[in-house]
Amino acid sequence: MNCRTFGKTGRQVSEIGLGTWQLGTRWGDPFDREEAFRILETAEDAGITFIDTADVYNGGKSEETIGEYISAHPGRFYITTKCGRRLNPHTEEMYTPSAIAGFIEDSLKRMHLERLDMILLHCPPTPVFRRDDIFGELDRQKKLGKIADYGVSIEKAQEGIQAMEYDISAMEVIFNMFRLKPLDEMFPLAAEKQVGIIARVPLASGLLTGKYTRDTTFGPKDHRSYNREGASFDKGETFSGVPYELGLQAVEALKETFGTSDLAPLAIRWILMHPEVSVVIPGASRASQVQDNVRAAELPRLTDGQMQAVQEIYDQYLRATIHPQW
Ligand SMILES: NC(=O)c1ccc[n+]([C@@H]2O[C@H](COP(=O)([O-])OP(=O)(O)OC[C@H]3O[C@@H](n4cnc5c(N)ncnc54)[C@H](OP(=O)(O)O)[C@@H]3O)[C@@H](O)[C@H]2O)c1
Repeated sequence: MNCRTFGKTGRQVSEIGLGTWQLGTRWGDPFDREEAFRILETAEDAGITFIDTADVYNGGKSEETIGEYISAHPGRFYITTKCGRRLNPHTEEMYTPSAIAGFIEDSLKRMHLERLDMILLHCPPTPVFRRDDIFGELDRQKKLGKIADYGVSIEKAQEGIQAMEYDISAMEVIFNMFRLKPLDEMFPLAAEKQVGIIARVPLASGLLTGKYTRDTTFGPKDHRSYNREGASFDKGETFSGVPYELGLQAVEALKETFGTSDLAPLAIRWILMHPEVSVVIPGASRASQVQDNVRAAELPRLTDGQMQAVQEIYDQYLRATIHPQW
């Protein structure tokens, strides 16, 4: 497993990390603690050293399980968590320095840590990216030693550009074969400012694995059922905002280009072709998916022709729908 420098934190992290929104559950299924542990063990065995979590994932179970695991395996993982989404209603007014301080304390407790490696504002409302008091509180928490570094998770490229006015060390962004907008302005600025990029939703919620069809069904509590139109949160988080049927057509074009229907490692390898990315964080509902996804680290570099073909597929099928929205 190759490592990359995580922006201005200077820390070395595995270029493939682990997303844990669905740790121990297939989004909406009951929590399976043993499978959650198997996923973490498999990640560690595969050389993964970076975990992405959030205080809201599975009502706190994601952080708690990670906390339990790292207590038994200290020092193996660099952990990024996120806060803000517990605010109800999730509005700009609810963001206060004391709320942020409280979230940090809660995450420290859930993971049995004295200091968080990295905390990100979890896709707050756009005006929060201009709030001196919120970024000031993050600076204060850093001075207090409660967090080592901080950053933001964003929905729109413009939010990322705004956030880089502050001294953030990392930014989490949707970046995959179906989401090319970050390449336009955001990645060059992040490289200039040494902001580490965490590429999330790398498989477009599984669509880019190539395994879904028109007949695939998702459970009623799975966001791939209920959030396709953004009923609960930004629809960009579900299939990367790509309408399902259109996504299937683009996936068919990718299969033809690469001559295989086993797209998951290629989709991850494509992300790793971009040096601005510090780490890509595929989520896994089963340990076998972790094993499958780390194969990307062994794949050869994609050719210029393959990179060009992905760009053309995006331009043909998705640019008009996706590019203006995020
Ligand atoms: N706002 C934010 O900051 C935010 C939002 C979204 C995600 N995230 C983070 O980013 C991580 C990754 O995003 P994501 O999990 O939403 O999407 P993703 O990584 O694009 O897709 C994950 C899903 O794809 C399927 N999958 C994964 N590997 C597979 C393989 N090898 N073969 C077949 N299917 C496979 C699984 O679904 P099934 O098994 O159910 O088919 C899995 O749950 C999350 O876990 C979370 O840590 C952050």
